[in-house]
Amino acid sequence: MRLVILGGGGFRVPLVHKALDERITELVLHDVDAHRLAAIRRVLRGGPPVTATTDLDEALRGADFVFSAIRVGGLAGRAIDEEVAHAHGVLGQETVGAGGIAYGLRTAPVADAIARRVAELAPQAWVINFTNPAGLITEVMARHLGDRVIGICDSPPALCRRVAKALDVAKGFDVADATFDYAGLNHLGWLQGVHVGTENLLPTLLADEEALTSFEEGRLFGAEWLRALGVIPNEYLHYYYSTREALGDNRGAFLLGQQQRFYDGDVDWETTRLEREATYMAQERERDSLEGGGYEHVAMALMRAIADNEKATLILNVPNNSTLSTLDDQAVVEVPCEVDATGARPLPVSPLPDHAAGLVTSVKAVERLVMEGTRAAALKAFALHPLVDSVATARSLLDTYTRRHPELAYLS
Ligand code: G6P
Ligand code: MN
Repeated sequence: MRLVILGGGGFRVPLVHKALDERITELVLHDVDAHRLAAIRRVLRGGPPVTATTDLDEALRGADFVFSAIRVGGLAGRAIDEEVAHAHGVLGQETVGAGGIAYGLRTAPVADAIARRVAELAPQAWVINFTNPAGLITEVMARHLGDRVIGICDSPPALCRRVAKALDVAKGFDVADATFDYAGLNHLGWLQGVHVGTENLLPTLLADEEALTSFEEGRLFGAEWLRALGVIPNEYLHYYYSTREALGDNRGAFLLGQQQRFYDGDVDWETTRLEREATYMAQERERDSLEGGGYEHVAMALMRAIADNEKATLILNVPNNSTLSTLDDQAVVEVPCEVDATGARPLPVSPLPDHAAGLVTSVKAVERLVMEGTRAAALKAFALHPLVDSVATARSLLDTYTRRHPELAYLS
């Protein structure tokens, strides 16, 4: 099988490379930046033959799988997203609030163009989208690729893994057969139940203070708040539930310098990776480990289920198709799916709690406005986001971002 990685010069590509198996007989790395491509290629050892190219059409021809992991504007763009948001007193995180909207506005047209090329040159290929904001970008690409594009994130499976471990400790249960009732949008989801047979184990966990605060999300949100909610939120809900405390997080600016030292050849890849993992959400929480969330394993599990027609249940970003009642069928949601050679189909989930359904509906409306691609819609996207509190601020955000990012010229 021919696997193509778009964003092949990206820092986490060696993790994907390490996770590949014999199914992959040809690996193609595509990037718009030849220098980054060369730096990453030098780190790769063993595995299938690798081709590196800056020609998109050449990369895509004959692809069986495409991993799309691009970052439009690079980390410099991410740092600008953050800086401008902070200057306006709002969140700059790359996937949430004003920062996420700026990043989405920059990325949507590029993802749209890529999806068109895939539809034309490799219509049989499965596209696994890692590119953030992942839900929005998957929906953009689905307009051309239908259910051949599937979005992934490591945070829901990582949450389920940590909850399963905490439950093991609390109950001595074997949660291997548990089903996880998780739903929402990417970086905006909630775990509402952990079912083993006819029993829901989540209330047990919520009642056990020690077990509840033994894992990252438990410490991040605190036992009292989790009990009040009655569900376990994805870690990104921190930006909604503790917006004030999260303000000023300048990860983009930090990573810009940290990653540059690797690409300049001054620091080795593994040292750079460990530092990047150690500092991920470090202000918010105490990390359990320096393993990444395991993006590469989610992607490989998905690829295996499709390629080998081996049924698997995975939490993925796919069109809603009546799963969440407040959204239309085309809206991409993040829910457990059954996967096999025919693709991924959402499984039934519990209805979201009211406040969660409200957030999901508002944020999906914002994503749709980002997808429209006009100045008027972009202004509405900023102004109507639940974490931006003024139309005047929204207008200034839009004007400043448009001025600072050449990729946003289409909005002026
Ligand atoms: C997690 C999230 C990804 C995000 C990444 C950011 O893995 O699920 O969506 O891209 O963290 O990590 P970074 O090191 O770039 O802050
Ligand atoms: Mn993610």
